[in-house]
Amino acid sequence: MDATARQAQKTAVGNALPHDSAHLHVSGRAAYTDDLPEPRDLLHVAVGMSSKAHARLRAIDLGAVLAAEGVVDVCRASDIPGENNCGPIVHDEKIFATDTVEFVGQAIFAVAARTVEQARKAARLAKIEYEELEPILDPLTAVEKGSFVLPSETLTRGDPPAALREAPRRLQRRINIGGQDQFYLEGHISMCVPQEDNGLLIYSSTQHPDEVQHLVANATDRAAKDVVCICRRMGGAFGGKETQAATIACIAAVMTVKTGRSCKLRLDRDVDMIMTGKRHDFVVDYDVGFDETGRIRGIDFTFASRCGISADLSGPVNDRTMFHCDNAYFLENVNIESHRCKTNTVSNTAFRGFGGPQGMFAIEHVIDDIARTLGVDPLEVRRRNFYGIGERDVTQYGQAVEDNILDLVADELEASAEYRERRAAIREFNRENKVLKRGIALTPVKFGISFTATHLNQAAALVHVYKDGSVHLNHGGTEMGQGLYIKVAQVVADELGVPVSAIRINAADTSKVPNASATAASSGSDMNGKAAQLAARKIRNRLTEFAARHFSVNETEIDFGGGRVSVGSGSVDFAELVQLAWFDRVSLSATGFYKTPKINYDRSTFSGRPFFYYAYGAAVTEVVVDTLTGENRMLRVDIVHDCGDSLNPAMDLGQVEGGFVQGAGWLTSEELWWNDAGELQTHAPSTYKIPVCSDLAPEFNVTLLENAANREDTIYRSKAVGEPPLMLAISVFHAIRDAIATDANPLPALDAPATPEAVLRAIEGTGP
Ligand code: MTE
Ligand code: HPA
Ligand code: MOS
Repeated sequence: MDATARQAQKTAVGNALPHDSAHLHVSGRAAYTDDLPEPRDLLHVAVGMSSKAHARLRAIDLGAVLAAEGVVDVCRASDIPGENNCGPIVHDEKIFATDTVEFVGQAIFAVAARTVEQARKAARLAKIEYEELEPILDPLTAVEKGSFVLPSETLTRGDPPAALREAPRRLQRRINIGGQDQFYLEGHISMCVPQEDNGLLIYSSTQHPDEVQHLVANATDRAAKDVVCICRRMGGAFGGKETQAATIACIAAVMTVKTGRSCKLRLDRDVDMIMTGKRHDFVVDYDVGFDETGRIRGIDFTFASRCGISADLSGPVNDRTMFHCDNAYFLENVNIESHRCKTNTVSNTAFRGFGGPQGMFAIEHVIDDIARTLGVDPLEVRRRNFYGIGERDVTQYGQAVEDNILDLVADELEASAEYRERRAAIREFNRENKVLKRGIALTPVKFGISFTATHLNQAAALVHVYKDGSVHLNHGGTEMGQGLYIKVAQVVADELGVPVSAIRINAADTSKVPNASATAASSGSDMNGKAAQLAARKIRNRLTEFAARHFSVNETEIDFGGGRVSVGSGSVDFAELVQLAWFDRVSLSATGFYKTPKINYDRSTFSGRPFFYYAYGAAVTEVVVDTLTGENRMLRVDIVHDCGDSLNPAMDLGQVEGGFVQGAGWLTSEELWWNDAGELQTHAPSTYKIPVCSDLAPEFNVTLLENAANREDTIYRSKAVGEPPLMLAISVFHAIRDAIATDANPLPALDAPATPEAVLRAIEGTGP
């Protein structure tokens, strides 16, 4: 059934239903972790952080901390009953520093007090003696000194040296790409409540309750069965709560074990920004050979990313960079080198796109440089390098691009956005205006869907049908505002033929659904949707079997829909059938398990099929730049994005708009800046500028691609949408570059983010 047919049948899937918590969000009644009722014995925790980027810890005197008003206890590494570790993949990250500190903001101790203010005040009273050591504060120095969190990786296809040698034209360049803070509205928080017989209950704002459960168990010397982690919703996460939430939870839990009381740790904004990881900033060197038509013959990339002090997710993040530095383009001869640099800064982590944006940014920059060198429209060069259909269609890692709709999307957008006409109008505008300059760019997105670590592509769900016909739904996915819970509820509603209002959407809970992967890699609805569908289908099959028996009809004569069950020529209420089935002792609870098919990939050779499919999109952005101040703003944005057959077009539209705006922030205004002592100086909204409403383009046209059913058998042929739209914002950067390029300065050296300062540097040629 396609989307239109489903809508005609008034089913839930495919409808633009509002977010299940929308009415709670707007009325302030949605309970985030800090809103949960506080246990009577609750203590508030604050963290004592390192003020040095790299130092030996000579002495730690917590006397004044302990003596401060309201303080009940303190906690250090030696108080951790289990392992002093919160490293998710590699065990290389400590909960509390021991003999050395490695970045400004690293946790050294925690203090518990009766109020938050008392705890935070007391944390500042520690007397810590440091013996300072030489820090490494940027990726290039790290490369020079061979300082890496993980071994460097290389991926080669074809014969890049020969292709480069023989290419008619050649360009080399260095690109700087800034990082980004997730800036979720709700900061990191965990509340740990002791349970009888050594049990621990953790309420955590986390994308990965399973990992919180396991790392807390490990730190408190318990088994996973003794720890439960619950998360009903997050006030945004954006990758920032994939691993980082575990550190916060471990500190709260260790303090609970030490004091025997409930403990809550909530970071304020500054501490959150200083203490927790962000998007990796990159330095990229490229060497490209191409022909007079702009087609790339050979390319060599060297990526160096700031990973901070530990591996965290830097392995898979940088792998994804290697998998996405082709974006939409066939790179026949390519060499990719990836350095995972160890720096004395906070350990970087997941952020929407997960390394993909940086790889895609790099190749889009190469394409733009080629076009500007040849003096042709960058869109032509993009088209010339697009993956082909049936030829030139294998990625550098060996996966065939089978679902290529790049030309289709680009053609549709070029027409609907009036790209050609506006290009001409902009030329005219720029001839007439000396100070204000306009620019335009169309950039495509092709983003691989699946966790690159194959084993993470699994999900499970738990569905109960109660005697009154109402439904309880759990799955391993977490809700961070993206609309996962309503989408999965829509799937279950249609499977049981009941309205969405018959379903209670429940918190992610490790005691309901075990061993769940992080809600990440945009795969939440793909995987949990399928798992929940399978669980609901089991119950529906049992009900069908029962009804056939009970009413003496054939199973094929039974159908579920609209809250009723048709049985032959008659029908009964769903609740009525459920009652009868219960009376007949039919089980009305089931689990569902799903693993993504078709994927297999060998990390040791970077080859195979890491992705189930690709999501596509393209954006045209027009900007105006004040060439005297460097200030810039978007004038018009047109987007065509591919969500397959959307499960919920309202949620998907929100994801496309939000993703684009967040990407625009990354590439224009959000600047992370560390001083020479390794202190992050942009740790609050006063100095770190995320987009606000007034930054939106006055004309913002977003279209979800029509008739775009996923070729692969995903849930109702939909496509993942969480991350891909972020990279549509690469068009903003190139529109700015387009606006400031002149005959005298055809390839402006513009760094990302293109802040007014960076734009001015590029115009004045004082850039890097
Ligand atoms: N949308 C909102 N509103 N808040 C978020 O934190 N996170 C993004 C994206 N969209 C996020 C969001 C990221 S990083 C991912 S991986 C996906 O949502 C995760 O959810 P999904 O798999 O259900 O799409
Ligand atoms: N994407 C997002 N998060 C992840 C991934 C990935 O590919 N692998 C591990 N965590
Ligand atoms: Mo998203 S960066 O995969 O949490």
